Parts: sequence; structure tokens; C-alpha cells
Amino acid sequence: MSSKNFYLSSKHSDDAIELPVLNSTIGHNVIDIAKIPQTGCFTLDLGFGATAACESKITFIDGNKGVLLHRGYPIEELAEKSDFLETCFLLINGELPTSSEKENFLRSIQKHRNIDGSTEQLLKGFPRGSHPMAMLCTVVAAMSATYNSNTDITSAEDRMLTIYRLVAKMPILAAMCHRHFIGQPFVATDDRLDYAENFLNMMFGTAGKESTVSPVLAKAMDLIFLLHADHEQNASTSTVRLSGSTGANPYACIASGIAALWGPAHGGANQAVLEMLEEIGDEKHIESFILRAKDKEDSFRLMGFGHRVYKNFDPRARVMKVSCDEVLAELGLENDPLLKIAKRLEQIALDDPYFVEKQLYPNVDFYSGIIMKAIGISPEMFTVIFATGRTIGWIAHWNEMLSSPYRIGRPRQHYTGYGKRSYPA
Ligand code: ACO
Repeated sequence: MSSKNFYLSSKHSDDAIELPVLNSTIGHNVIDIAKIPQTGCFTLDLGFGATAACESKITFIDGNKGVLLHRGYPIEELAEKSDFLETCFLLINGELPTSSEKENFLRSIQKHRNIDGSTEQLLKGFPRGSHPMAMLCTVVAAMSATYNSNTDITSAEDRMLTIYRLVAKMPILAAMCHRHFIGQPFVATDDRLDYAENFLNMMFGTAGKESTVSPVLAKAMDLIFLLHADHEQNASTSTVRLSGSTGANPYACIASGIAALWGPAHGGANQAVLEMLEEIGDEKHIESFILRAKDKEDSFRLMGFGHRVYKNFDPRARVMKVSCDEVLAELGLENDPLLKIAKRLEQIALDDPYFVEKQLYPNVDFYSGIIMKAIGISPEMFTVIFATGRTIGWIAHWNEMLSSPYRIGRPRQHYTGYGKRSYPA
């Protein structure tokens, strides 16, 4: 605890109340405001721009400097030297695995790479063309019925089993949602393929045939999962923590995270990027869309630009941009009309004073949307893929919360409705 505490005066007494300042290892320290109600007031922080909701050791972001660390490791280094599953181990356990720990972890994930018949039936019950996020949210919530053993949230062992199940099954469920969405039969998981390769084979392969997934595309997919793995207390992670704080079933908690992620201001932005590019349709229309984005009277925003936390370049976007160029070259798509619009838009926005002054840089969703479109993934699947990568972050935060004392999350409000009144006679 810092010696430089805060003092606030109370309307109920002449004495000031002392609010402890808690030191963070890096970044902003926090004022512990638990005693604030003694002043006769609550605090109000719309959008939680200034409020820490928990203590965490998992991820650190410095939005002004464009820094993202997982357990202390910069995202750029993890993207270059690690892979998605190793990063999952790191997020959960706090340290990188030794080679035998990594082997065991991969084996545990492998063991759970299967889906039971009832989940398959549930998916088949959806009308063809149902939005894959609607299907994913439902099938993950339904896992609470299917995998109803070993879900004692007070047991570290049961929590670990839940983590293995979720990390292993999410890409399988995601691919099955896609196959049902496009009206194609499911492709079985292939134990010889690694995590991302198996996902792409289940998405685009043919049942009973060998995988033809290109290593460049599998690497790009693994990177997309890795770059989305965690982002501290964002809207969906906070939703999972809040649901988890009630003691709810873990699969239901993850389903609540998926629901929160769906919105276009959060995970749905990558789908919105592609829809926007299609709406622009031609490079000659870009200027008018830029004008609309700058017009205060127009609610239109340039999708894939800006971020609540990053007021400098999003470090994930830098890495994704490099991968984007590799994928486009691999697929010979440098001249794809939609992708040309994207590149031109990026350049204009990076040079335009409105975007520069407001620090609205292309975010991770801008480039991930372009990569996934190039791979041939339908825009409706983009947020599902984000959810697949982010599941490890959600469950790591849930696990962290349950591993130490916690209270049910219960915000206060600034009430501005009627005072007490009588029911009309
Ligand atoms: N296009 C045009 N103007 C924008 C944009 C944009 N994409 N984003 C912000 N602005 C402007 C706002 O109009 C506002 O202008 P003003 O100060 O003149 O009123 C200013 O920039 C600040 O905007 P806020 O809404 O206050 O920023 P906030 O931090 O609340 O929102 C958000 C961040 C939601 C990401 C926003 O930038 C946005 O809507 N971007 C487009 C959607 C998107 O790409 N979302 C993905 C986020 S990343 C993720 O979830 C992985």
C-alpha cells in the first residue's frame, strides 16, 4: 500500500476519510474507494473509464504507449516465438511451460477434442443460415447440461478440466456452426492435425478426405487466435467475471461472454468492417464515407478504427498487418477489389487529420477481417473466431477470480427517477 493516500471530506462529518492508494506493479495505481459510501455518495463512472473492478495478474495494457503484456511477455514476442496453445498455458498458469509441461498440456487438450451426439443434434436443430454467433452462444450454454460432471467451481482440479474442455472444443464447435450455417455436413476432427489446421480443415475440408490446409494459412489462423487470446477487463471478460461472481456454471458464464462479444462495438466489429467495405463497394466512394465518419450529425463510424484503450497503435494490429500481407501474397489476392478498398481506406485514415488527432488507428479487427475474408471465411463467422481465441482469456479471468476470495459483483446506481409516490386512487 502506498503512503500517499487520498483524503475525501464527508458531508456527514467534519472528518476527512482516508482512501488507501494501492500500488500496481506497472501502470496506474488504484484508489480503494470501499469507504466512499461514508461520504453519503456513491461514485459514478459511466463506461467504467476510471474504475478497476478487480485485481489481476494476467494481462497489462498501456494504451498510450501501445503496450500489451500477457504475464509480462509483450504480445509481439509471443506472436513471433510462441503459439496459441502455449499462450493458453501461459495465461492460465502464469509461466511459460517447460517442454514436458507443454507436451502434457497439448495431450490434455487433444483428449478433449470431441463433441457428443447431443450437441450435434442441437446444432442440426437450428434453421439453416442461423447466425453462427447465435448457435455458438447456445451450444456453449448447453455444455452445462452435457458436461455436468466435475463442475465444482471451488475445486482447482474441476476448474482445470473445464478449461481443457473449453479450449479443446471451442474451435470444433465454431467450425460446426459454420458448416451448419452454409448448409454443409460436418467434417470430423482429425487428431493428426494441430489446433488451427484442424479448425480450418473442419471449416473447409471434405469429410473422409486428407487435409489440404496450407501451412501459411494455418499459421495465420493460429496467430489470429493468439492475438485475440486476452485483453484484460474488456466488456466480454467483465461479463464473464460478473456472471462467475454469482457462482454460475462455467459454461453459462462463457456463453454470457459470447453474448457480450457479439455487439459491433466489441467483437462484432470485424464483421462490421467487411460489411462496410462491401457497402463502400468502390475506391471512388471512400471519400464520401470518410466525410460521413467525420460528420457529427451522422452516426456512421469507420468500423475497425479506434479503440477504447489504445490511443496509440494497437500492437496486435501491427502484427496482424504483417500476417495480412503474407496471407494476401500466399493467396495471390493483392488485387482483390475489396481488399484494395481496405488498403486505401487504411492509408487515408492514417493521413487524415481527424483520425490522427483523435488517435483513431486501425484496430486488430480491421486486419483480422481482411485476413479472414481472404481465407474465405464468411463475415458472420468472424466474431465466432474471435470468441474461439478469447475463450482462454475469459476462462483464465474466471479461474483467477475463483482462486482467491471474491464477492458477487453488484454495481450501485445514480438514481434519477421518481421519489416515492402513491398509487392513483
Ligand atoms: N470513426 C469515426 N469517428 C470515431 C470512431 C470511428 N471508428 N471512433 C471514435 N470516433 C470519434 C467519436 O465520434 C468521438 O468524437 P468526438 O470526440 O468528436 O465526440 C471520439 O472519436 C471518441 O470516441 P468515443 O466513442 O468516445 O471512443 P470510445 O473509446 O468510447 O469508443 C470504440 C471506442 C467503441 C472502439 C470506437 O472507436 C468505435 O466505435 N470504433 C468502431 C468500432 C470498432 O472498430 N470496434 C472494435 C473495437 S476493438 C475490439 O473490440 C477488439
